[in-house]
Amino acid sequence: MKISHIFLMSSMLVSMPSLALSVEPVWKDSSLSTEARAKALVKAMTQEEKLQLVVSRYGVHGGPGNESVPKEALGSAGYVPGIPRLGIPAQQITDASLGITNPQNVRPGDAATSLPSGQILSGTFDPDLAYEAGQMMGKEAYHRGFNVLLGGGGAVLVRDPRNGRNFEYLGEDSLVAGNMAAAQIQGVQSQHVIATAKQFAFGAIETNRMKVDMRIGEKEARESDLLAFEIAVKQGKPGAIMCAYNKVNGDYSCENSYLLQLPKKNWAYRGYILTDWGATHSTEKSANAGLDQESGASFDSKVFFGKDLKRAIAKGEVSQGRLDNMVYRIVYSLMDVGAYDHPSYKSNQPEDVAANEAVSQKVAENGIVLLKNSHNVLPLSPQIKKIAIIGGKADQGVMSGGGSSQVTARGGNIIDQTRTQIWPGPVSYFPSSPMKAIQALAPNTKVDFATGNNIQEAVALASHADVAIVFATKWSAEGFDSANLELFGNQNQLIEAVAKTGKPVIVVLETGNPVEMPWLNNVDAVVEAWYPGTSGGPAIANILFGKVNPSGRLTTTWPKALSQVPYPYIAGAGHMPAIQKLNVKQYSAHNQLVSSVNLNEDGANVGYRWYEQKRLTPLYSFGYGLSYTTFKYKKINVVKDFTSDQHLITANVTIENTGKRDGADVIQVYGKMPDGTPSRLLGFKKVDLKAGETKTVAVTLFPASLSHYLPEKHDWEINPGSYEIFVRPNALSTDGLKTTMHLDKIDLPD
Ligand code: BGC
Repeated sequence: MKISHIFLMSSMLVSMPSLALSVEPVWKDSSLSTEARAKALVKAMTQEEKLQLVVSRYGVHGGPGNESVPKEALGSAGYVPGIPRLGIPAQQITDASLGITNPQNVRPGDAATSLPSGQILSGTFDPDLAYEAGQMMGKEAYHRGFNVLLGGGGAVLVRDPRNGRNFEYLGEDSLVAGNMAAAQIQGVQSQHVIATAKQFAFGAIETNRMKVDMRIGEKEARESDLLAFEIAVKQGKPGAIMCAYNKVNGDYSCENSYLLQLPKKNWAYRGYILTDWGATHSTEKSANAGLDQESGASFDSKVFFGKDLKRAIAKGEVSQGRLDNMVYRIVYSLMDVGAYDHPSYKSNQPEDVAANEAVSQKVAENGIVLLKNSHNVLPLSPQIKKIAIIGGKADQGVMSGGGSSQVTARGGNIIDQTRTQIWPGPVSYFPSSPMKAIQALAPNTKVDFATGNNIQEAVALASHADVAIVFATKWSAEGFDSANLELFGNQNQLIEAVAKTGKPVIVVLETGNPVEMPWLNNVDAVVEAWYPGTSGGPAIANILFGKVNPSGRLTTTWPKALSQVPYPYIAGAGHMPAIQKLNVKQYSAHNQLVSSVNLNEDGANVGYRWYEQKRLTPLYSFGYGLSYTTFKYKKINVVKDFTSDQHLITANVTIENTGKRDGADVIQVYGKMPDGTPSRLLGFKKVDLKAGETKTVAVTLFPASLSHYLPEKHDWEINPGSYEIFVRPNALSTDGLKTTMHLDKIDLPD
């Protein structure tokens, strides 16, 4: 008989001392449910221990006031001491979205792998790859001793092409963002590391992010950003959700009971909700709204969940049950991902760097987007005699985005000394040179470089080459939005001037967002490499030379100009109070800063749906991307299976690779609703096809994308009627095939 229940202990200890040695507490018994174990743990805790678990501090930023950082704290973003007598490990918390960060480079030896931007990951349209990417981050976090990753699930929808953090998010479509986040979360958590879905919710802009109020109707909210989070949370089951800095409908996200209750009440969410760093504003209001952990308390005006929470409980302003539930949720998540049973520790074993970097490169190669390729100038032949490489520090590396997600690459980042050095900077490049990778693929080619700072010099180099590749960059970072869609500095003039040489010109963009390309008609090819991560150099070179056939697609619609976007003017966009060494208060005293955004402007019709509704033609729509081969959709039919409660709808699409190269297409199935609302992506699947090959591919359609939220009924419903179903090369294309599907009214419980 296995004795594992603590309540047996007291009676047995007296009469059966020999058995007492084999008695183990309920929470240690891994054969029991996580619920039972976590509940028993909470019961065994003192009030002080409980209070200790609901505040994190001591990141690299130190403790609140004069508290010194305990030596056990690994640094990075935050730390919560463990409770050794109960086997509860310390929470060692690290950033974030693209890899394990090493803020301020405090431990130079502790560099890591950075994934490419979220636009690239989502642009792969490949949830298996998102899982692998998450798994890689989870491994690197665990190896360094961390057990909470503040990333893995950046599911904020991209609504504005100036947002400084779009490179951390997964695009404009709820279905893609939600599914890719869910897969990534599961990958992280497979390594006994908690992943975080963030930032909850509606961080559509960064300008005045600590105060700005995002106003949105319930229906619009549930059918857009909250749908992305719903999919990420239900499918991914993240251990943590991070509430955002901004307000939503008047209340700060981290004390907004509508937001904080939604996952817990409606999405069966069992994990905990932690704040962003500096996003806690109250004790009772936050605790009662459903906040479970105050993060990075040194960023708050005071520690809200310390003595103040104790006092509020003593006064009955917050119930003891609420504190117990906060703690339960935290230990539940630690147990659920295995962080309790397999505590992380700083390993001194070597890690498989090559394998981890290969994951980053694979993501880049599958998500970089070929935007233009006139006369098949790409792929390049390794027989070319002379290549001129111009700009973007391509001789040294690839650009990365700035802020809390900034990873320090192995070998150290390359810093642009001419630009800001303070957070969210410095402007950094990963040491993965596209030029070196190009030279390696074309060993007999003369490859020369011009920085691009001097336009004459660049033009002279291009004039003597057979092809010019211009690398153009634009830095985006957390904490501010760009004021416009222009490339930085003289880069537009540079590209125009190089194009005038009459040589074939290829532009490789390394940007956090779409940019205006006034020179587009004068160049031959454009590759959007976003921020391609720590193996970006070889990934770009492999695409340019056709070792990899591009298959990435845009997950953000690319406007022709700012006049097309829902919020053409954002007061204060482009200014960085931090960089001007002003605090937000001083800054706002001198500058007009946006104080609220009416998100009902685009509402549920984010991205391509906005363009369809407004009958606008963007430059490139969601889903767009070229290949070195061609595909033809030959047949589509839709099959419904409603025998179970699942409402399973499948689109069977027959596709042929009609070109001469092997390649991959992203099959995108869209639906037009009978009520006339703009089309939605209903399902997607990436498929590999050999040259000349034909396949029939089953694409599962998600009922969530067909349904509408009814605020008055607190329910989802699929309207009865006839649905037009399309398979298209991108969201707004008129190419492709169409079929129709009839549905009766279906109620889907919330
Ligand atoms: C960011 C979060 C990050 C946190 C901790 C904040 O500035 O918004 O995404 O996880 O800092 O570093």
